[in-house]
Amino acid sequence: KMATAELEERVAKVKQELGKRLFVPGHHYQKDEVIQFADTTGDSLKLAQVAAENKDAEFIVFCGVHFMAETADILTEPHQKVYLPDMRAGCSMADMADIYQTDRAWETLQAMFGDTIMPLTYVNSTAAIKAFVGVNGGATVTSSNAEKMVSWALTQKERLLFLPDQHLGRNTAFNLGIPLANMAVWNPILDQLEYDGEMENIQVILWKGHCSVHENFTVENIRQVRSDYPDMKIIVHPECRREVVALSDYAGSTNYIIDVIEKAGPKSSFAIGTEMNLVKRIIKDHPDKHIISLNPNMCPCLTMNRIDLPHFLWCLESLETGFEDNRIIVNEPTASNAKLALERMLAFS
Ligand code: 13P
Ligand code: SF4
Repeated sequence: KMATAELEERVAKVKQELGKRLFVPGHHYQKDEVIQFADTTGDSLKLAQVAAENKDAEFIVFCGVHFMAETADILTEPHQKVYLPDMRAGCSMADMADIYQTDRAWETLQAMFGDTIMPLTYVNSTAAIKAFVGVNGGATVTSSNAEKMVSWALTQKERLLFLPDQHLGRNTAFNLGIPLANMAVWNPILDQLEYDGEMENIQVILWKGHCSVHENFTVENIRQVRSDYPDMKIIVHPECRREVVALSDYAGSTNYIIDVIEKAGPKSSFAIGTEMNLVKRIIKDHPDKHIISLNPNMCPCLTMNRIDLPHFLWCLESLETGFEDNRIIVNEPTASNAKLALERMLAFS
């Protein structure tokens, strides 16, 4: 077992040798041991934007999860190569919508509603889902532009299919004034629409997927914080369930959470409902504030955590050897079709 100091030294050496030929984007949920080497940190929107803007780097080593690296590959130039330090770093939410299920759902929904639906997908989805959305006139969304994108979609069509996170979809539509009674849920396991009102009133069809990390924050956690610390503000990610978001003080993307806490006065106090690596980092960065996790058991994203210092170093040291096992390549026509959906979003953001 190599000492951390040696691993860090070797990472620093490769970074120095490659200079601008290498670019390392890091998502806020990454471990500290990795994020310390990121050239840019950000939420999903910002990381997609920087990937689209970077035209120089030959190697992009993405510290995040698989769908983020796919997005980077789609948005970069053909001479730029994207790598993921551990190919097992997926996202359980993205895995909840596969393209076969989606094609079946689309066929049924078209039969029910005709050409009145626009598909939108959270970026937390496979390239194949983004491609499906792209060819059907829709767009991707992230948690920081979901309201804008859902509003836009509803100016184009009467209703929308929102993949794959029911919670982000429901929270966003609710904030835009769409009643819960006008939302239905598509169950991809049973291939059926779950809905009890009038079919023609349906405006939003939510794919029945969720984030296993954010589902761990509960109404009970909120009650506990409200009773233990009556003055504490509660801030959560919109991947949390509707009831949890409804009882919180603020909800938004990871960048938004960081921003709200940064701008708050000294001695302010917050309970945060999002992934553990980020919560721990925010606690460390704000010794003047009282910050806790909304769920005292803390909620790690196991797949984000698969990117650790040894995998990162191994990936960096393999870059110039021609070893391509960690390369992320989205093939045509999936890449071009997915790009349509991503570009519609980037044009709005
Ligand atoms: P954001 O950083 O865009 O808020 O996304 C959170 C997330 O769950 C990424 O997987
Ligand atoms: Fe996926 Fe949730 Fe992990 Fe984000 S936090 S990568 S949505 S499982």
